[in-house]
Amino acid sequence: MFCFSSILPSLLLTLGAGVEVAHALPRNTLDQRAAAGSCSRYVAGVGTFTNSATYTFAGSALPAGLHVSDGVEIKDRNNGAPYNHIFKASNVAVKDGYLQVKVPGGQNPGSSSDYAISAGEVFTDDSGILYASVRTHAIFSTVPGTVQGTFFYKSDTQEIDIEYLSDPTSQANTGGQPSIHWTNQPTNGGQSTTSLTVAPANIGTVEHEYRVDWTKGYTAFYLDGVLQKKYTVNVPSQPGTWLWNNWANGDKAWSAGPPAKDSVMKVRKIEMYYNTTSGATSCT
Ligand SMILES: *[C@@H]1O[C@H](CO)[C@@H](O)[C@H](O)[C@H]1NC(C)=O
Repeated sequence: MFCFSSILPSLLLTLGAGVEVAHALPRNTLDQRAAAGSCSRYVAGVGTFTNSATYTFAGSALPAGLHVSDGVEIKDRNNGAPYNHIFKASNVAVKDGYLQVKVPGGQNPGSSSDYAISAGEVFTDDSGILYASVRTHAIFSTVPGTVQGTFFYKSDTQEIDIEYLSDPTSQANTGGQPSIHWTNQPTNGGQSTTSLTVAPANIGTVEHEYRVDWTKGYTAFYLDGVLQKKYTVNVPSQPGTWLWNNWANGDKAWSAGPPAKDSVMKVRKIEMYYNTTSGATSCT
């Protein structure tokens, strides 16, 4: 007995030193488990989310949790655009470590019966997302004439968008340079809340992180971890879906296009921290 009690303190000292070393390792302050054994994550400066998912794109299949839009046509001509656009599964591939979302080049939508430009889209299975921090690591195609981006959507009045407009001649790219647009769509039928950042020169060759934080009180938009815009008006309050897409409808005031050559948006990784209305928790 006497011997044991004299050994014990030195063991505790050793363990204590080990713990000190572990805590001294660098931490990712953006992503910390709130409690051991819980899915909850604390996102610094934003809050706690009960769900998280990280999607990467090894192999050739879309990871569980994401789906491809197929045969979904958006009737932009009803709103005055030259063409409609239609999301087809054939324009989405998982290849070379990327989710690849394409608008095929050289389309002649005027010759198709529905005047639709073929495009691509992916969305979350979960349609009950209510508040989130979503980061998309992607390379956008600089082929002029598409809109590439990631967005939250419930309806046209409950929507948050990050959209890269690749065509320098788009009237929305007010500086005459391809730009990234950060937008809350109007929640009350009024004006959207929107602004733009001229795209990094290497947007087409280097992965950048495009991030939206959405809470009850605000949306905040980040490029490579640097805050670009924060809005406290037109903040959606209803649950919906997260999507990624690449499309065009020929509208000179927005997407322009269709593109002369293949436009391929390449997503390396998606990280999502989010709450849902179902109250279910998951972390993958
Ligand atoms: C997410 O839900 C949890 C549990 O209800 C809540 O404590 C937390 O504040 C919510 N996060 C945000 C950003 O609203």
